[in-house]
Amino acid sequence: MCGIVGYIGHQAAAPVLVEGLTRLEYRGYDSAGLAVLGAKGTTAIRRVGRVRELEAALPKRLTGTVGIGHTRWATHGPAVEQNAHPQRSQDGRISVVHNGIIDNAAALRAQLAQTGVEFSSDTDTEVVAHLIAQSEAATLEEAVLAALGRITGTYALAVLDERHPDRIVLARSGSPLIIGIGDKEMLVASDVAALVRHTDRVVHLDDGELATVTATGFRTFDRGNSPTSSEPVEISVAAEDLELSGYQHFMLKEIHEQPDAAAMVLRGRLDERFATARLDGLGLDPRELRGFRRIKILGCGSAYYVGQLGAQLIEDLARIPADAEAASEFRYRQPIIESDTLYVAVSQSGETADTAFAVEEIKRKGGRVIGVVNVVGSTIARTVDGGIYLHAGPEISVASTKALTNMALSFALLALHLGRLHDLSHADGQRILRGLQRIPEQIREILDGSEAIAAVADDVAKAQSAFYVGRVRGFPVAREGAQKLKEISYIHAEAYQTSELKHGPLALIDPDMPTVAVIPDDELTDRNLAAAEQILARKGPLIAITHAGVDLGHLAARTILVPKNEPELDPILLTIPTQLLAYHAAVLLGHDVDKPRNLAKSVTVE
Ligand code: F6R
Repeated sequence: MCGIVGYIGHQAAAPVLVEGLTRLEYRGYDSAGLAVLGAKGTTAIRRVGRVRELEAALPKRLTGTVGIGHTRWATHGPAVEQNAHPQRSQDGRISVVHNGIIDNAAALRAQLAQTGVEFSSDTDTEVVAHLIAQSEAATLEEAVLAALGRITGTYALAVLDERHPDRIVLARSGSPLIIGIGDKEMLVASDVAALVRHTDRVVHLDDGELATVTATGFRTFDRGNSPTSSEPVEISVAAEDLELSGYQHFMLKEIHEQPDAAAMVLRGRLDERFATARLDGLGLDPRELRGFRRIKILGCGSAYYVGQLGAQLIEDLARIPADAEAASEFRYRQPIIESDTLYVAVSQSGETADTAFAVEEIKRKGGRVIGVVNVVGSTIARTVDGGIYLHAGPEISVASTKALTNMALSFALLALHLGRLHDLSHADGQRILRGLQRIPEQIREILDGSEAIAAVADDVAKAQSAFYVGRVRGFPVAREGAQKLKEISYIHAEAYQTSELKHGPLALIDPDMPTVAVIPDDELTDRNLAAAEQILARKGPLIAITHAGVDLGHLAARTILVPKNEPELDPILLTIPTQLLAYHAAVLLGHDVDKPRNLAKSVTVE
């Protein structure tokens, strides 16, 4: 959700900024821009569309060695050139890139207009540039602090000032910002993806922190201009992790990375002797864990659906009441925070504003919250009391796949761990542990059969609308399947509990409405088959994601077979074909799979 980059050093800044923006494009791709400071002042270029449009528009000789850049996901004002960043002061002296939302922008615009400022954009960010320019403070840092004193909202900001060409000033509140430490050069980015080609030493700014970055160093300080201490950390992302490596799309690459990613999240965490999971990062001892009477999982979008799957796993294995809720809803109601509830925030990026806010709210009210997070050092990872890292590696495609699978596996580990502290027998613990060990290979098996799934996608791609149905453990699978199809193929897809079909949606079944039905081989197979009969009786095309043991003989269904695991773990595998279905449908329809319209990977605004 908007990506920011900055560079100050000995090289021409523009190519470094463009490369960084390309890496951050998944965060927003409505428009892009950059500002470079050179001997003749600021050169600012902005373009609607992708970073490549910006790159094509750059003048040949742009040699300045200080600059900032931005890739935008529109919040205030449409995606037109004047709304792209950098936003600048009227005299062009100050350039600002911003990720976040200034809540009181309308009031500030009115106040600034009264002082004679003429606005050139619809953005909330433009007020920041004018406020800084109007400040009479002696230093850029003080001018930025004065401007921040007048704004409310969330921001990651990078500011350039022609009067102080030796520095970039940064500020962070609610949106991520990272400094990359190079050799006589420093970088700035919203995400380490933009830094890995240049350095493996970074500093994550804390909320409320500011920084001055020069070619040779950095200084961090707080809103009172007092120094803060920020220690550099090493990042372990390899540059190859961010390449397509021969795949047509990152989504396909990430789907195929799942066997290895699954092995990574399980590595070192399965304890054969005690038939449990070792989760050292939880930060909670067994006595504390036994004390929780309820588990509440919070996440957004697909992470929320995996949370539902996780709640089911926890209830199944640990027999502790558990449920999942959309963090985006939780934060706006008056949730009762209980001391005997363990809260779990689940997020790939660790930056989703709704989830991060929910975590803060829980902590403010004294609740215990752990994270199930992919990005190391992200906002949520840094705020929670402990947690489980997903170790899925960088996920570039906007539509999440491997991170979701690793979230589900992390919940299985948590459920096993909690189960073994409660009633789960050693034998059942062993059963789950063995099941988990089989998962990476079973994912590989599904991927080996992906051509057959691609053939089924043909049917889905022709439809205007589709149903995804599943019952109990299968319902989160259906929700996630429908979500993936919507996101990247733009086909309307709705998920229903199979049991609810007859209470209304069955009215929509006809030959043009395919239903993807999750029919595992379990204690509910007969009920699921009965619902399948009802769909076929209304001439609805049926695509069954099922196990070899299920007899679909007389049903004229397209069948996708998934290897059987333990019933509690089956949903993890049943989800994999839904990723491929959506992917191939989107490719058949000619869509930009990795960057679906209107979406961004990391939703750092409300
Ligand atoms: C779907 C998708 C989104 C995210 C959601 C939460 O493919 O990617 O629904 O799951 O925006 O994002 P994170 O997990 O980063 O908090």
